[in-house]
Amino acid sequence: MPADRPTDPVGKHAAGANAAAPQGVQGVQLDPVLDALDPDRDRPAHVIETRRLTLHFGSKPILSSIDMAFERGSVTALIGPTGSGKSTFLRTLNRMNDKVRGFRTDGDVVLEGRSIWAPGTDLLELRRRVGMLFQRPNPFPMSIRDNVVAGVRAHRIARGKQLDVVAEQRLREVGLWDAVKDRLGDSPFRLSGGQQQLLCLARALAVGPDVLLLDEPTSSLDPISTEYVEALLRQLAPALTLIVVTHNLAQARRVSRTTMFFYDGRLVEHGPTDALFEHPSDPQTERYVTGRIG
Ligand SMILES: Nc1ncnc2c1ncn2[C@@H]1O[C@H](COP(=O)(O)OP(=O)(O)O)[C@@H](O)[C@H]1O
Ligand SMILES: [Mg+2]
Repeated sequence: MPADRPTDPVGKHAAGANAAAPQGVQGVQLDPVLDALDPDRDRPAHVIETRRLTLHFGSKPILSSIDMAFERGSVTALIGPTGSGKSTFLRTLNRMNDKVRGFRTDGDVVLEGRSIWAPGTDLLELRRRVGMLFQRPNPFPMSIRDNVVAGVRAHRIARGKQLDVVAEQRLREVGLWDAVKDRLGDSPFRLSGGQQQLLCLARALAVGPDVLLLDEPTSSLDPISTEYVEALLRQLAPALTLIVVTHNLAQARRVSRTTMFFYDGRLVEHGPTDALFEHPSDPQTERYVTGRIG
């Protein structure tokens, strides 16, 4: 098995289980003829952008004037000490903070050229396009199969027998198929934590998001599951744009191309991951990445 493929998360599946995972094509020069056929050709290079995004909860400033553009198909890591605003920033991108008491924003978040707060925005559709995976796996209280297709059903992307096809395809994509194929009707809560997280990832992928937000997706997982999830994340780009909050600096370096460093609600520095870790331009970033604050 090539080194860049995930290893077996559950000790049960055969080598073919990952065959459906997207293959990395980063850095491949497109042929001009193919380029003209590229359906993304006329879409903005940045799938999602924040423009002077400022956020308060009540009188408390949480984020101040954050400008950032996320390149289509990239993996971006968000790092910074606890309380620096990483989760709040991430949750703002699909409007999960709107209902927090005292929530107030200035500036904008623009998805494919359109404000996420534009009148008429359908929240369900926004969250289909900008999906989320949390720190603790949160399967729904329904069967394993129904978990995978819950969003697909709600959005009427598929129905009837197609749902079985979608469930199998997505479970294969995350390498869980062989472990669960004989118990698709069972509750997900007896699966291991790592398997539950993969199930949630399958569910998030099933609705075909453009962007996937991940808030410390491996911090409740054991090292083997963590390694497996990281390998999967590397394979999901460039088909998807990933934004990953992590406390694990080594993980940020392994999975991301771009890193953002947050401190006290400010985006102190962002740039290519290797450069940010090896030659940070701000002393605060340097103190954090060398383990002196955090
Ligand atoms: N629902 C909320 N209501 C009020 N304050 C909040 C809420 N969520 C987060 N905060 C505050 O926002 C700040 C940033 O928190 P958070 O985004 O969770 O940071 P991080 O993810 O970097 O640890 C903290 O001061 C936190 O107390
Ligand atoms: Mg957080």
